[in-house]
Amino acid sequence: MRKPFMWGKQLPTTAHKGAPLVVENVHKRFVQGAKIAHVLRGVSLTVKSGEIVALVGESGSGKSTLARTTVRLYTPDGGKLIFDGQDVTRVSGRQLQNYRERVQMLFQDPFASLNPTHKVRTILLRSLPTRARSLPSRARDALLREVLDQVGLTPADNFLHQYPHELSGGQRQRVALARSLAGKPDLVVADEPVSMLDVSLRLGVLNLMLSLNDQYGIGYLYITHDLASARYVASRIAVMYAGEIIEEGPADEIIAHAMHPYTQILVQAAPDPQRHGRGDVDETVFSGEPPNLSQEIVGCPFQFRCSHVMNRCRQEPPPMRSAEVGHQVKCYLFRDEVTTVVSD
Ligand SMILES: Nc1ncnc2c1ncn2[C@@H]1O[C@H](COP(=O)(O)OP(=O)(O)OP(=O)(O)O)[C@@H](O)[C@H]1O
Ligand SMILES: [Mg+2]
Repeated sequence: MRKPFMWGKQLPTTAHKGAPLVVENVHKRFVQGAKIAHVLRGVSLTVKSGEIVALVGESGSGKSTLARTTVRLYTPDGGKLIFDGQDVTRVSGRQLQNYRERVQMLFQDPFASLNPTHKVRTILLRSLPTRARSLPSRARDALLREVLDQVGLTPADNFLHQYPHELSGGQRQRVALARSLAGKPDLVVADEPVSMLDVSLRLGVLNLMLSLNDQYGIGYLYITHDLASARYVASRIAVMYAGEIIEEGPADEIIAHAMHPYTQILVQAAPDPQRHGRGDVDETVFSGEPPNLSQEIVGCPFQFRCSHVMNRCRQEPPPMRSAEVGHQVKCYLFRDEVTTVVSD
């Protein structure tokens, strides 16, 4: 049983209990001079109400683009975003503002994402939802203290009047987390929220995210290079490659029974989640290059690096297939409902 929200009784309520986000066949392209980079190539992903889903993939696979598109910092060029049953793909004005209040983004670099000229109080005040703007300032400050308390920055009064540069890296990321939480969001899209922090501080911030999920049902889309932390925080893992989700399933299942050749290499390269320095997707050595996103990819995007590549992989992209319950993979090595390897 979830406890009710402990903070923010000052907020005029729209009692949120978490809501599902459905990303449906989303495309995103960027124009770069004469070239067009097709960065998201039909991404489908669901984060259920209060769920923690990890998105892993190497640098350049499109994770941050998906994060920014998901929170509507970018508008998709194709596909749909459905949040709490509403199509938010192209909403604007008041509806977009409402969506952004309920689905928050937490960035990688807390220093770059916090305005250095503002004190913590101003930073947090600016993050409050519209419905909190009309509160008397005493009630708003009480709310800010509660939020700082939730993220372990106590006593809150010491922090409210500090500037970001006066804080440690871990404290800054806690302020960033407080900012994303102040309006009681349903979902936080966290783009590598701990990768800039000292190793000693990472676990603290991850545990804090977990406890906020546990207590208040706040869902996360947790984006990371680090398979070990994905397994630690998430119930599901989605693996991204060249702008597509190529495998998705329960976290333990993905680690124990990775199916896609790409995921298998990632998992094999990260044998010990406890060992420091292992488990980073970008440290994994592959032969061959990922595809050029400015060109059309004919067939499977992983064909250029795959040791199992077959003729059909070069002709048509493999569709997403279900293997086990909730475990899906885009690879011709597997047929629906079958986990045995088939030959060419
Ligand atoms: N605004 C943009 N304009 C043009 N190209 C972009 C833009 N944003 C991202 N890209 C390109 O899209 C691709 C994916 O970038 P993205 O930042 O989403 O990857 P990522 O998976 O987050 O990588 P990293 O792990 O390094 O953060 C890259 O090739 C990048 O150069
Ligand atoms: Mg990124």
